[in-house]
Amino acid sequence: MLIQNPLAPHAHEEVASPLERLAPNKLILGLFLPMQEGAWSPSRAPRSTSWTFDYLAQCTKQAEDLGFDLAFGLAQWMSKGGYGGEMRFREHELDPIIVNTALAAMTKRIVLINTVHILYAWHPLHLAKFGAALDHISGGRWGVNVVTGYKPSEYRMFGLDMIEHDLRYDMADEFTTLLERLWAEDDNLTFEGRWWKTEKAFLAPRPGARRPFLVNAASSGAGLAYAAKHSDLIFITSPGGAEPAKAYETLPPVNARIKDLATSYGRQVKTIINPHVICRPTEKEAQEAYRRILDHEDPVAADNFVQTFVGGDTKSWRGHSRAQWVIGGNVHLVGTPEQIVEGFVKLQAAGCDGVQVNFFDYLQDLAYFGESVIPLMKQAGLRA
Ligand SMILES: Cc1cc2nc3c(=O)[nH]c(=O)nc-3n(C[C@H](O)[C@H](O)[C@H](O)COP(=O)(O)O)c2cc1C
Repeated sequence: MLIQNPLAPHAHEEVASPLERLAPNKLILGLFLPMQEGAWSPSRAPRSTSWTFDYLAQCTKQAEDLGFDLAFGLAQWMSKGGYGGEMRFREHELDPIIVNTALAAMTKRIVLINTVHILYAWHPLHLAKFGAALDHISGGRWGVNVVTGYKPSEYRMFGLDMIEHDLRYDMADEFTTLLERLWAEDDNLTFEGRWWKTEKAFLAPRPGARRPFLVNAASSGAGLAYAAKHSDLIFITSPGGAEPAKAYETLPPVNARIKDLATSYGRQVKTIINPHVICRPTEKEAQEAYRRILDHEDPVAADNFVQTFVGGDTKSWRGHSRAQWVIGGNVHLVGTPEQIVEGFVKLQAAGCDGVQVNFFDYLQDLAYFGESVIPLMKQAGLRA
C-alpha cells in the first residue's frame, strides 16, 4: 500500500507531463548506455565496448545524431572484482549523474536519464537541487530513474540494514512526493513525513517550465503502484524471458496493467523495454554473432550475475534463462534489419511505447543500426 501523505502528491499537476518534450514518434527510441565494464553481457568475445567517459560520450553523441530520443545509465555499487570472473564483470562504472552532467553540456537534443538509489542516505533536497541544476544545464533534458535498490550488499556498503520490499516503495513514495514538491513550490516548504523532514526548504532556481522526467523500473505490485503514481516512463521486463515470441505473448497484460494503474491516478505513463539487438546483413551472420557471445561466456561472472537476480527479492527477470543472461537485456532481437524492425513492430503491438536498445559492441553496432535499421523504422511508421 502506498502511504497517504499529508501533502498533495502532485501539487503541480497543472504542469504538463515531461513526456510532451519527446518528439511524437509511434515508438520511443532510447540507448542503454554501457556504463559498466562489460555492459549487459558477461562474455569475453572481442568488442570495443567500454565504460570510459570518451566512449560513453561518443555513443551518446552518435545516438543524438541518429535521432534517438534518450540515453540511459544504470547505477550500481560493487565490491572489488564486480561480478567476478576473468573480466571482473561490471567492476568499473563512472557515476551516472556525473556522466550526465558532462553529457548535458555536450549534447543539444537527446534526453539523459540516470539511476539514483534514493534510499542510500539521500535526502530529497539533495536530489531536488542536483536535478534542478541538471535541468538547467541540459535545457529540460534530464530525468532520474528512481530505484530503491534490491541488493543487501549495497545496503551494507552504506551501513544500512536491508529494507523489506514493499516498505521500500512506501519510502520511495514519500521521497518522491517531497522531491516533486521541492521542484514545484515557489515558497519555503516545511514537511514532516514518516521518513523525511524539511523546514523552510526552497529551491532557486527551480527546474524550468516542467519538472524533470521521473522514471522507474519496478515490476512488483508495490513497485508498479509507485511508478503509476509518480513516473513518466516505466521500464518493463518481459515475464516470458528473452525469447521474442514469448515476450510478445506475455507483455500485453503487463502494459495494460500499468496503463490502467496510471489511469486510476489520473495520469499517463509510457512503457519502455530494453531489447538486446544483434543485427547483421544476413540472418546467418546475426546468429553467428549471437553464438560468439555465448561461446565466450565468462562462467564465474555469469553465475554471479544470474544469482543476484534469482537470489534476491526482485520480481523482475524471473523468466530469463542463464544463457539469456549471458547475452543480456530483456528481449533478444537477432537478425537482419527487416527482422529487427519486425520485432519492434510486435513489441509496439504488445503495448510497449518504446524500446531502449542495448548492444554487444556498442559503437560498431550502433553505427550499423543507424544506417540499416532506423530507415526501416521510418518506413514502418515507427519513427518520423
Ligand atoms: C531496465 C531496468 C533498469 C534498471 N536499473 C537499475 C539500476 O540502475 N540500479 C538498480 O539497483 N536497479 C535497477 N533496476 C531494478 C529495478 O529498480 C527493480 O528493483 C527491479 O526491476 C525489481 O522490481 P521490484 O522492485 O518491483 O520487485 C532496473 C530494472 C530494469 C528493468
